[in-house]
Amino acid sequence: MSNLDSYLQTDIQRRKFLEWIGLSSLALALPAMSLSGCQSGRFHEDEKQDFKNVFDLESLSRKVMGDDAIEYLNGGADDLKTVKANLEGYNKIQIRARRLIDVSTISTKVDLFGQTLDTPIILSPVGFQKFFHQEGEVATAKAAASRKHQLIVSTVSNYSVSEVAAAYGPNLWFQLYPTPDRKITKILLEKAEQAGCPVCVLTVDTPVVGNRESSGTTLFGLIEAGELKMGNLEGLLPKGMTFTDPSVTWEMIGWLRANCHMKIVKKGIVTREDAALAILHGADGVIVSNHGGRQLESNRGTIECLPEVVDEIKGRIPVLIDGGIRRGTDVFKALALGATAVCIGRPFCWGLGALGQEGVEIALDILKGELVRDMQLAGTPSIGNITKDFVSRY
Ligand SMILES: Cc1cc2nc3c(=O)[nH]c(=O)nc-3n(C[C@H](O)[C@H](O)[C@H](O)COP(=O)(O)O)c2cc1C
Repeated sequence: MSNLDSYLQTDIQRRKFLEWIGLSSLALALPAMSLSGCQSGRFHEDEKQDFKNVFDLESLSRKVMGDDAIEYLNGGADDLKTVKANLEGYNKIQIRARRLIDVSTISTKVDLFGQTLDTPIILSPVGFQKFFHQEGEVATAKAAASRKHQLIVSTVSNYSVSEVAAAYGPNLWFQLYPTPDRKITKILLEKAEQAGCPVCVLTVDTPVVGNRESSGTTLFGLIEAGELKMGNLEGLLPKGMTFTDPSVTWEMIGWLRANCHMKIVKKGIVTREDAALAILHGADGVIVSNHGGRQLESNRGTIECLPEVVDEIKGRIPVLIDGGIRRGTDVFKALALGATAVCIGRPFCWGLGALGQEGVEIALDILKGELVRDMQLAGTPSIGNITKDFVSRY
């Protein structure tokens, strides 16, 4: 029996047992309570072959995690059209491979904000990761560090930014939701700077939380009940105050400049107009993102938004992208259309939910492995070689 099969078998037994003893769906949604038996084994290197792609991790995570955690992770706004558009956008782009180029050595290194990153695949900020696995963001941080991937920690992480930085090492980036109270925002910035974060990623697509009809109840119930802590906001956010602020405008960049020393990246830009404003207001970078289709049901995939943003930015600051990246070829296509680097959300969380740190490592290994192979097959030995000449669109 393969490792994957035996894990699935263990999970089926766990679920049957839980059903038999009559535990509620809330108990099933709590990985901390229910997963210890499933996650005790470590994989041998050769056994990781059982996970052929990130979808195998998704399948396992859907077996292992509780229903509410599955909904929270995989859900999106309204009818999920934007979630689908993010995925489908990549199908409208084809790769134009070149032949007879020496691809015996491949470099995936990229330069970003004064650092050389080992790979252009960055882990997006994802909140409440303890909902997926008891070690939450700490497991993710250890995996990202061991595989040398850039990590962005969310404002609404269950572990604090300093705990995540301790597990990750230097150069952790901090994602900021500006709370309605700037005194709290200032404390968040101080916490990030004390943890050594050089980059603040300001999420600009969330003036309010999107209409996610199928997720959230259990999660917010657990937070309300104090069973799931918000590592950065614990004791800071008054009861009833949300972490989003609908009054934020472009002036926020100036406020951030005056209140921290971090580089400022805008996450959630999807138009040429806002790319121009980001430059005007002095952003250090932008991330083309629609929050994984969880905010406005816009029906535009981010890969379809990327060209107009790249065209407007004209290489003055880095342009990153996330949303729907599931394959090395997706990474390749985004880089070819002008992204400096890409971010992934759900794929690493599938690994986390399935197997904790090791699952995140498997997800990262799969995606980087696919990218390297795709670069060899396309005739691009380094990231700099991947230009728009390597793709066509219809
Ligand atoms: C469960 C979940 C939680 C998220 N939490 C945050 C967050 O706290 N802050 C943020 O800026 N984006 C958040 N995002 C959006 C991601 O950073 C990213 O934009 C998105 O996941 C990329 O799409 P993908 O999941 O298709 O890769 C979250 C996404 C998911 C799936």
